[in-house]
Amino acid sequence: MNGYDLSTPDVRANPWSLYAELRTDSGIHQVGPADHYLVARYADVVAALERTDDFSSLEMANQLGPIDALASLAGGESRDLPPTIISSDNPIHNRLRLIMQRRFSPRAVGKIEGPIRSLTDSLIASIVERGECDLVRDFTIPLPVIVIAQLLGIEEDRFEDFKRWSDSLIALPTARDEERQRHLGEIIQLAQYFLAMADKRRTEPADDLISVLVEAEREADRISTREVLAFAILLMVAGNETTTNLIGGMVEAFMDNPDQLAKLQADPSLVRNAVEEGLRYCSPVQGLFRNATRDVELAGTLIPEGAPLMVCYASANRDPEIFSDPDRFDVTRDARRHVAFGRGLHFCLGANLARREARIAIEKLLPILPRFRRVREERDWVDSLFLRGPKTLPLALD
Ligand code: HEM
Repeated sequence: MNGYDLSTPDVRANPWSLYAELRTDSGIHQVGPADHYLVARYADVVAALERTDDFSSLEMANQLGPIDALASLAGGESRDLPPTIISSDNPIHNRLRLIMQRRFSPRAVGKIEGPIRSLTDSLIASIVERGECDLVRDFTIPLPVIVIAQLLGIEEDRFEDFKRWSDSLIALPTARDEERQRHLGEIIQLAQYFLAMADKRRTEPADDLISVLVEAEREADRISTREVLAFAILLMVAGNETTTNLIGGMVEAFMDNPDQLAKLQADPSLVRNAVEEGLRYCSPVQGLFRNATRDVELAGTLIPEGAPLMVCYASANRDPEIFSDPDRFDVTRDARRHVAFGRGLHFCLGANLARREARIAIEKLLPILPRFRRVREERDWVDSLFLRGPKTLPLALD
């Protein structure tokens, strides 16, 4: 083995130099801890994502274990895992995607602009009032969690439970022993809650995503009850820590680059552009997983049938072949070719929502951003091999 490993503390703190090394030679190297073939160059990342006959998304199920395992709860006896949109290939993928696609269109997302704005205002107001915060705990986590809870149709008096459940979903993969049991208990409660809610929506439909799912369930063969549960849970997970990492990562980037903050303040119409650059620069999802459907060649490397790959969006987004001076955060850069939301078939379903939340967050944080001061110099990162963002961000307001 060549000794590359994504899980070491040094790589957690700074994955960018490892990615630069992995872009050399063939651009494809096996990396620990699980010996994935990591695809590092932009052109190869795009090719791997587009060649869906050669690279299957079933590998995602190994990484999203809790979601798939949970869905089997809804199925009673059967141990077969139902596919989720993100861990399936066609034709299953398109069947599931079509059910939800319209609900995440720019138009549909535009309709909740008002509520996202007022939620953002109230979170910021309480930070300003206190004069200090952990921006992650007090802002970047609650914003997307509350937005998706509202979209799913969770009753407001269950938001606290919902927050605890989604924390458990995120913590489960790295938890051990008693911790793990506790998280599993929370997740079972969540599954029961969603199942009960789906039952209710079958007789009393409302304008929410659970109703969209049970409506599709009524039409023969569109979606099974276990898939309804898995889809609801996936929507919870996929949109939370990712958007949290984007906003937190961008705030850090602005604090590290005051010249860029000054540029944005001088011309706030750059917010849209800055969010695309934030997606490129931070890559909240560093990479996701595929496996080779047969012996395949990618960029001159033979990948044996069944072998797992990590398609590294974060490395592609720092590829100097595509982005000049790629390690520079530059709010005026044209970053639109980034692959932070993936590419092709599995392109992020929630991209319009994530972009809107991030634009509103940055626009509204802009007036107080120059007053933020770190109260602690050490940094920490979320415990994940494929997500990246600050785990905490304790700040004082000068
Ligand atoms: C900054 C925030 C986000 C980032 C960086 C992000 C990133 C991604 C990426 C890279 C993929 C591609 C998966 C693949 O190629 O296998 C993806 C898929 C997906 N995302 Fe996001 N995401 C974000 C926010 C959201 C939000 C807010 C939601 C929904 C509420 C969401 C829901 C999904 C779903 C359902 C898929 C699967 C789509 C499919 O397989 O067709 N994401 N996301």
